[in-house]
Amino acid sequence: MVQLLFLVISNVLPTLIASMHNSATGGCAIIRPPRDGGIRYRGLTQEQIRSVQILPVDYEIEYICRGNRVIVGPKVRKCLPDGTWTDMDQQSKCLFLCPHVWTSLENGRVALHPPGPPVEGTVVHYSCHAGFLLEGRNISHCTKQGNWDSPKPLCICELSWTSLLHSAC
Ligand SMILES: *[C@@H]1O[C@H](CO)[C@@H](O)[C@H](O)[C@H]1NC(C)=O
Repeated sequence: MVQLLFLVISNVLPTLIASMHNSATGGCAIIRPPRDGGIRYRGLTQEQIRSVQILPVDYEIEYICRGNRVIVGPKVRKCLPDGTWTDMDQQSKCLFLCPHVWTSLENGRVALHPPGPPVEGTVVHYSCHAGFLLEGRNISHCTKQGNWDSPKPLCICELSWTSLLHSAC
């Protein structure tokens, strides 16, 4: 019985200490920015930013990315009364953005996987409207360098009796 009690206490104690620590300080410990990114601290001087360890409840930090990268995931995190930051179950990443021109196609359609900004890892699928033929590859990948790995295809007018009769191209 004593042993069991000890077990319960030793399991509960670390979280108890952690929450006591947070309520005593009344804020959130600083967190690391995403790779290739930084944190914008509003209302703090350079001096304060260098020495700050704990930020107050309701304080908001904002992630910024270096180079031609965009933030994917939460851009802003807020300090909660329990000493944690919002949305910590979601990772924030600074990813390269590929040229937007690839995300639209004249006389055709483009599907982005996953949907959202065309960042590294995004795949685009091309298809042409009825009466048009796809010239080139129907797929392109946004690489880690921020380039598409295939040239953008074209939708060219399909010359056939049916297209001559029905299509506008
Ligand atoms: C894309 O093109 C390949 C051949 O180049 C073909 O096998 C595939 O079915 C096409 N995919 C779609 C969705 O049209």
